[in-house]
Order: sequence, then structure tokens, then C-alpha cells
Amino acid sequence: MRVLGIETSCDETAAAVVDGEGGILANVILSQVEDHRPYGGIVPEVAARAHLQAVDAVVARAMDDAGLAFGDLDGVAATGGPGLIGGVIVGVMTAKAIAAVHGLPFLAVNHLEGHALTAGLSDGVGFPYLLLLVSGGHCQLLAVRGVGDYTRLGTTIDDALGEAFDKTAKMLGLGYPGGPAVERAARDGDPDRFPLPRPLKGRPGCDFSFSGLKTAVRQTIEGLPPGAPTAQDVADICAAFQAAAGDVLVDRCGHAVARFRADHPGPVTLPVTLVVAGGVAANAYLRGRLEFLARGGDLRLVAPPMALCTDNGAMIAWAGLQRLRRGLEDGLDFAPRPRWPLDPDAPRAAGAGIKA
Ligand code: KG4
Ligand code: ZN
Repeated sequence: MRVLGIETSCDETAAAVVDGEGGILANVILSQVEDHRPYGGIVPEVAARAHLQAVDAVVARAMDDAGLAFGDLDGVAATGGPGLIGGVIVGVMTAKAIAAVHGLPFLAVNHLEGHALTAGLSDGVGFPYLLLLVSGGHCQLLAVRGVGDYTRLGTTIDDALGEAFDKTAKMLGLGYPGGPAVERAARDGDPDRFPLPRPLKGRPGCDFSFSGLKTAVRQTIEGLPPGAPTAQDVADICAAFQAAAGDVLVDRCGHAVARFRADHPGPVTLPVTLVVAGGVAANAYLRGRLEFLARGGDLRLVAPPMALCTDNGAMIAWAGLQRLRRGLEDGLDFAPRPRWPLDPDAPRAAGAGIKA
């Protein structure tokens, strides 16, 4: 079985082909980072136009890399949401057109399901497992029990963690995208010089909140003497921010593991597998903190390779293939969904929009 997957929901135009054994035959990713850099963040209209201009060539390149013609495929998948609607429409229309012309099944994949199932593709991780998804648009803890069987244990009630990294970087003049810049600056910083809050730490449950942390960073910067911030101030603030984020992640994951164990007393053999995905999972400091938690807690930490952690087409192709195997194909009348919670039963977090 071979499925083409197209991802256009954010700022990467991506296409990939995977097979039923978990082989990645092609994985092409075109980043729009340079298109958005002048604006200091992602501009939806700029993203949609860039996807439209690039998508055909990215798909052609993926098919070429895989050495396949469209007729050799068993299905065509695209991200159907959630995400920036203009981009999602571009990917969905492209996939539908290929499916219609070549008489192939079309699969509309939930972007979050793509992230959720990646560990099966990259590391052969079996169900059930816990997933911490931390990116620029999402910050969630999920119990992944099977294809289409997800329980959201917690989500952010305001900002995603990647967003908080990006805003911190912007306030400190570190540019976009901010996560890698904050991580670099933090290496020379003292995490204890500026006290920052750890929102929701120690509270019951698995939800996140980062807007108070972002505000505290702004107030810290405003409280610096004239002429600041110096390079050392920037490093110290970044280190303090990262330490606070690490404390929060460890606390929330600890709660999620306890709940996961309680919910799965039978099938879960020790250790529980905690999978981390999303762009923020690239952060070596945060990974280290989670590894430390895992060592002390009979947990197995799995972090798929970066190219599969951040947005990519392979995760969409793989999730599409899993759905195709189960006969879950979609009609060509599928309407793109800017909001599409993975777990429709999850209580709506106050203020959560596209992150839901
Ligand atoms: O998964 P991703 O590529 O795209 C989506 O948001 O879906 O994640 C991008 C986010 C950005 O907010 C970026 O600043 C953050 O991941 N990020 C990092 C690092 N690398 C990327 N955050 C912290 N440390 C990093 N090294
Ligand atoms: Zn994503």
C-alpha cells in the first residue's frame, strides 16, 4: 500500500509518500520561513499564496523522489484541518484533484492525528501511549489508544508553548522563528536571576497556560534599567523562561502519566511510553528535563527525529494510510475544517481557539 500525503496547514508546504511497512519513499518539505520573516510571524494570506504557488512542484518532487506515478498510489491524503484555512483549502483541493483524476480514495486527515500517529511510523511504538504535542499552534497531552481513538487529557487555556517562545524572542529582539534563538541565548544565561511564574504548576489536571509567563517576561524587560537589555540580560531572561517552561512541562506530564496509568490498569505494562512531538520538542533543554522525568518515573521517552516532529507530509500520508486500511476514506465533498478537535468529547478549554 502506498499513500501520498500533503500538508499545508501552517507555514510548510510538504508532500510525502509512505508505504504500509512504514517506509518513507519521499518526504519533501518547503519552508516558508523567509516569506514570513519580514513580518515577525506567520501571515495567513502570505502563507496561502505561497502554498498555492509551491504545492504542485512539491507534490511532483515527492512523486519523483519515490519513483512513482500517481496511478501507482493506493490513496491520496491531505491535512483537512485544523489550521490556517487558506492553506488547508490549497492542500485539500490538490489532493481531491489527484484522487478524482486517477480514481483514488481521498483521505482528509486531522493534522493532530498526523502528529499523534507519527511514533508508529518513526519508532514502531504500539498503542496505547501518551503524547505531548508542543508546537507553535498546539500544546496538548493526549492518550493515544488506537487509530481514531484519542482522549485529550489537557490543553492550553491560552497560548501554545511555541507561541510563548516566539513572543519572548520577539520582545527580546531575537527575531523569528523564536524558539531556536531563545534556546541558543539561554545557554549563557542564569535561570535564577529573574523570578518567573510557573502557571498551573502543582494544580490538579493536565492543562497548560503560558500567557502569564509571557506577561511576566514583558514586565521583566520593562523593569530593566535604561540601555537594557544587554546580551547578559537577554541570556538570563531566556534561561529563566526556559526553566519555567521546563518546570511546567514536567509537572503537567507527571499528572498525565498518573492519570494514564489509572485509566489503563490492564493493558499498560511498565514502562508507559511518553511520545513528544511538535517543533518545541527540538529544544534540547526541554528534552533533557523530560528524559530526567522519565528516568525517575518508569517512563519510556520517545522523540521522533526532528524532520518527523515538526510539520511534514509523511505524518499525513501515514495517518491517511492507517485510515485507508480501516476503510475510513472521505468523499470529495469533504469541507476543510479550520477547527477540528481530535477528541470531540474533551471539555473545551476556556479561550482555546484553533488549538482545540
Ligand atoms: O511543529 P512546528 O514546526 O509548527 C507548528 O507550529 O505546527 O513548530 C514550530 C514552533 C515555533 O513556535 C518554534 O519557535 C518552536 O516550534 N521551536 C522551538 C525550537 N525549535 C522550534 N521552540 C523551542 N526550542 C526550539 N529549539
Ligand atoms: Zn503541527
